[in-house]
Amino acid sequence: MAIISPSILSADFCNLEIDIKRVEPYVKWLHIDVMDGHFVPNITIGVPVVKSIKKCTNLFLDTHLMIENPQNYIEPFKNAGSDLITFHYEAVFDNTIDVIKKIKSYDIMAGLSIKPKTPVNAIKDYIKYADLILVMTVEPGFGGQKFMEDCAKKIKEIKEISPDILVQADGGINDKTAQICLEYGADSLVAGSYIYNAENIEEAIKNLKPLF
Ligand code: DX5
Ligand code: ZN
Repeated sequence: MAIISPSILSADFCNLEIDIKRVEPYVKWLHIDVMDGHFVPNITIGVPVVKSIKKCTNLFLDTHLMIENPQNYIEPFKNAGSDLITFHYEAVFDNTIDVIKKIKSYDIMAGLSIKPKTPVNAIKDYIKYADLILVMTVEPGFGGQKFMEDCAKKIKEIKEISPDILVQADGGINDKTAQICLEYGADSLVAGSYIYNAENIEEAIKNLKPLF
């Protein structure tokens, strides 16, 4: 069963608690996009917001760091309540194993993400150390972009290398692109604008799980 992780990047930040409660009955995970204006052009959520979110929900906090020097922010995000910290290979390159080990030393899950232009081959030796691989299906930075099917093919490549690793797809996920990712073997789907712009959130989330 695919793990749906609604991205609050598309929520109403004036009413974040309300928007978290709107998805809570239908999911177990919540996707939090952290951007620093350096690794990606946009700036979004930081540690204090994650800390506040933790106080108002029991959802599993899936924290996607699109930042430089992610190794310096693992402890603050863990203390704020992150249950999974995913960082980008392109932010650390050869230090990937050290960063994964540092995240796991806090007894939380470690995720490794690749941008659209990074091939699976670049991370093939690191996959076995991680708990989850996040395949970006858009350029990281903004919600509401168009899904890139070529990137989704990486899901299958990763599953062929390591069938047990959780693979998450993020970017441009809707009822149709979700199906494509699931067919490639995705275990988790992140969706922001498709869920939060929907008239009926329950139906939108159900539409992301067409295989069962
Ligand atoms: C983009 C973020 C995504 C974003 C997805 O950089 O990592 O999580 O919220 O938004 P949608 O689902 O609208 O493409
Ligand atoms: Zn994300």
